Amino acid sequence: MTFYIFSQSVLNWYHLHGRKNLPWQKDKTLYKIWISEIMLQQTKVKTVIPYFNKFISKFPNLSSLNNSTLNDILYLWSGLGYYKRAHNIYETSKIIQKQFNGNFPENIENLTKLPGIGKSTAGAILSFSLNYFFSILDGNVKRILIRYYGIIGCSNNTSTEKKLWNLIEKITPMHNTGAFNQGIIDIGALICTFKSPKCNLCPINIKCIAYKEKKWDKYSFKKKQQIKTKKKYWFIIVRSQDKVWIQKNTIKNIWKNLFCFPSFEKKNQAIQWLLKNKINVQKYKKINSFKYEFSHFKMQVTPILIELFFKDDFYHIEEKGTWYQLKNPQKIGIPKLVEKILKLLI
Ligand code: ADE
Repeated sequence: MTFYIFSQSVLNWYHLHGRKNLPWQKDKTLYKIWISEIMLQQTKVKTVIPYFNKFISKFPNLSSLNNSTLNDILYLWSGLGYYKRAHNIYETSKIIQKQFNGNFPENIENLTKLPGIGKSTAGAILSFSLNYFFSILDGNVKRILIRYYGIIGCSNNTSTEKKLWNLIEKITPMHNTGAFNQGIIDIGALICTFKSPKCNLCPINIKCIAYKEKKWDKYSFKKKQQIKTKKKYWFIIVRSQDKVWIQKNTIKNIWKNLFCFPSFEKKNQAIQWLLKNKINVQKYKKINSFKYEFSHFKMQVTPILIELFFKDDFYHIEEKGTWYQLKNPQKIGIPKLVEKILKLLI
């Protein structure tokens, strides 16, 4: 199949079956497409939709975002994970204000200088919002190319990356680039799925090597076997009636600027913290422990609930934190795991 037939088959399929009513596809702007593409990095469409809608109703355009604080963005990002992306959005809004007079860049060179925007995300932003001729190469597109061309032994390295960019740039059509890009993403997400692909519905199955051989596993990205380190933490939950102490997270490499319970790797550190803050423990309760997996490590958390004797204003905790009001919560960034534990306390 020539590149032309490949692209036209994807386009025909897109016009019949592709997704055209996702929230970021209505009243398209560079700004909205940018927010959606950052959210869609590492996260599925279904999860992103409610976060996107909430974000856009609070910050409908770049100028509204310019007045935001990092905490406003982290609050809207709470539960979505990969919080680096929220920091990237905040930093990008400041850079655009300073370096681009508040106008969203419309060219690939300037876009790829912004935090969190690589070649593929820049291509997605320009092709979806302005129909410019740029390819995208995300996980969906890579899976399709590897299966279609029967590429063996792919791993996350620069030579594979180069090879796949080379292919997709030849396939991508100059006209209807946005529709083609959305089409190939949709085929990857809905048909050429990682497990049990629905090849009988695929518009490019005729020349697909993986389909011909019926061997999807042979043609897949080999993830580096990564052994994740396990870390154990004690979460100290001090509660006074319906208020709970939470503070800026101190665990390294995760949840930067989000709020968390005081957390310690060693029991003794927790005891020292309680002593330092003159919290006299008369009664405590161990809550069920939680396991949580991040992309780079595994975490096991044992929450200890301490019911305080006095009201919160009796205590002066020497940390950057707040008494979180369980029934009338403050608008601050909270990771999903912390939110889960907070819900148990209501
Ligand atoms: N993943 C990345 N961009 C996407 C888009 N525009 N639609 C669906 N999934 C995506």
